[in-house]
Amino acid sequence: MIYLDNAATSFPKPKGMIEKMSDHQLAWCGNPGRAGHMLSRKTAEAVRSSRNILADFFDIDDPARIIFTKNATEALNLAILGTVKEGDHIITTSMEHNSVLRPLIASGAEYTIISCRQDGSLDPADVEKAIRKNTGLIVCTHASNVTGTIMPVHRLADICRKKGIRILVDASQSAGHLPLSADDFDMVAMPGHKGLLGPMGTGLLIVKEKKALQPLMYGGTGTLSKMLEPPVEFPESFEAGTVNAPGIIGLGHAAGWIMNRGIEQIYEYQMGLIRMFDEQLRNMPQVEVYGPSVYRSKVGITAFNVRGRSSEEVASLLNDEFGIAVRAGFHCAGIAHKTIGTWDTGAVRVSPGVFTTRSQMQYAADVIWRIAKTASGVRPSRYLPVHPRGCSFR
Ligand SMILES: Cc1ncc(COP(=O)(O)O)c(C=O)c1O
Repeated sequence: MIYLDNAATSFPKPKGMIEKMSDHQLAWCGNPGRAGHMLSRKTAEAVRSSRNILADFFDIDDPARIIFTKNATEALNLAILGTVKEGDHIITTSMEHNSVLRPLIASGAEYTIISCRQDGSLDPADVEKAIRKNTGLIVCTHASNVTGTIMPVHRLADICRKKGIRILVDASQSAGHLPLSADDFDMVAMPGHKGLLGPMGTGLLIVKEKKALQPLMYGGTGTLSKMLEPPVEFPESFEAGTVNAPGIIGLGHAAGWIMNRGIEQIYEYQMGLIRMFDEQLRNMPQVEVYGPSVYRSKVGITAFNVRGRSSEEVASLLNDEFGIAVRAGFHCAGIAHKTIGTWDTGAVRVSPGVFTTRSQMQYAADVIWRIAKTASGVRPSRYLPVHPRGCSFR
């Protein structure tokens, strides 16, 4: 299988990660922070070590400001529902994932959704114009999960700083792909299982200002057990219950792997892949590509449709006939499709990762060309150039 669905979750994972996680579960598993015995202490130390690696990764001085969650959705819910006050107004964009929009609506706050341009890009002036006296939070994705469009989050952060408004960045499609200093923003939410190459069941919220956030979940923290009120310390008060220690250990390993290779090198490699792929698709008359045509204005995602075929049909053909995994449809971001003009159709999304090879991308482009040349309802030929093997980045 050629896996081109890394925007959903990354696959494969860095060498040694699974071994490290299974070693923990098989040989030295204890509940971290819950006891003084050797296994509990060793696991707590390993979780602390992962937190330290991630603090280095995102350039923050205090690892306690990293809260581990089970995914980006939980991190976004915590950031939104844990900071919004009654009477607040929130601004967000039409390119957001439902894991931003749904908690925002559930918060009961007033909100404004800024319409982005058809390529998914955002004019920060539109955001500035929408600010009201009671605007307390601006939420923006760093990069769209539909088109890959990179959003002007640093410009928004400048506006927020001047106006005394908090900014939350959804780094689900940028963490591990673009350099990111978390302290440029008030809060940054992300999954561990996408660009950070960690296992499923991991995510993080990084907060700049500790006192702004309220927990959403209460329970045992392994500290101050005689108190009925929860402790206020970071990160314990936001990580109630047993944490996903093997997942966090795996995530720390994966983040270290990325740091060893260098995020700039990874970025350049992925840009090379997406540029080569995009240029070919944009030259196919039957194919419509969405999002910015300047490849450096986006992360490694290409959204497209083949005229005369639904996105689901194209994805099924890619999977069933050619062994290529992509995602079709609406990508949990319905209104983003209104923005880019695919409200009725959705789109096919191709998202290579750090282990994708050029020959795999070339094969995918060849197959799409073949599908586009074949009449709708007819199965395209399987005869294509040599099937690629191997990964250049491993
Ligand atoms: C931009 C964006 N935000 C949030 C999420 C939610 O991530 P998770 O599935 O880890 O909760 C995704 C997942 O696809 C995403 O692409």
